[in-house]
Amino acid sequence: MYSLAVINQKGGVGKTTTAVNLGHALALRGYRVMLVDLDPQGHLSPCLGLFRAPASGVDRALLHGETLEEVAVATRELLQLVPAGKGLGEVERLQGGIERARLLQAALQRACPDVDYLVVDCPPSAGLLVMNALLAVDRVLVPVAGDFLSLTGLARLMRTLGKVEALRARPLQREIFLSRYVARRRLSREVSDKIRQHFPNQLLQSVISEAAVLAECAGAGRTIFEYRARSRSAAEFAALAEELLEREVNCHEQQETLDVA
Ligand SMILES: Nc1ncnc2c1ncn2[C@@H]1O[C@H](COP(=O)(O)OP(=O)(O)OP(=O)(O)O)[C@@H](O)[C@H]1O
Ligand SMILES: [Mg+2]
Repeated sequence: MYSLAVINQKGGVGKTTTAVNLGHALALRGYRVMLVDLDPQGHLSPCLGLFRAPASGVDRALLHGETLEEVAVATRELLQLVPAGKGLGEVERLQGGIERARLLQAALQRACPDVDYLVVDCPPSAGLLVMNALLAVDRVLVPVAGDFLSLTGLARLMRTLGKVEALRARPLQREIFLSRYVARRRLSREVSDKIRQHFPNQLLQSVISEAAVLAECAGAGRTIFEYRARSRSAAEFAALAEELLEREVNCHEQQETLDVA
């Protein structure tokens, strides 16, 4: 199983939109996908058409020792959802040491779900829930919307990721992409140039353009592949999935070379 968290402490940059549509893109390619909603706002459920959010979910796995399979619901072919659950906000208020940040990791170790991809949607914060994601997953995907405040936020986030690595057994693969991108806006291009300059190996070629259809499909409880399969947005999410799969293969090859050396 390969696991990925969509993170950015900035709100509204497209984390949830990415988790849903990337998750469905991978499922449509034949991978077994489990989406995990680690945001107490619980937005993944309505985005997938569950307008009455399930009362239990990953909160039970983190706080009561249940397995992710036990709290997962089937939503589409090959696409399961672990909803947030009503108690998820309590995790941020837990007292204690580092173990509070290893609850998701512990849940995965208790029973590794029978899936190919675990995709975690994170809240717009830098709290304990995000820390749980960072200690549990193989890879982080950071959507950046095009403005200069995002750049300062990104630099801070990358420093945080560096610190988290000290607590992990393996390095955390990091990838950044431009979300809500408007090609004709000069600022969008300037932001992408700056990111390329500072994080040349982490910036993906794929971008997700600003498109009203992405907001509409979320409101309709459908993914872009169901709502407008022939849209540019659907093609962009398919390309994002493709690029991530390709980079994963390269990364494994590099790892094997390191292991042999
Ligand atoms: N590329 C896009 N084009 C147009 N609208 C978008 C795009 N991406 C996201 N949106 C819309 O912007 C709003 C915020 O997006 P989303 O919920 O995915 O962001 P988020 O980073 O998960 O937010 P939060 O930090 O609150 O969890 C939603 O209404 C969503 O439909
Ligand atoms: Mg969100």
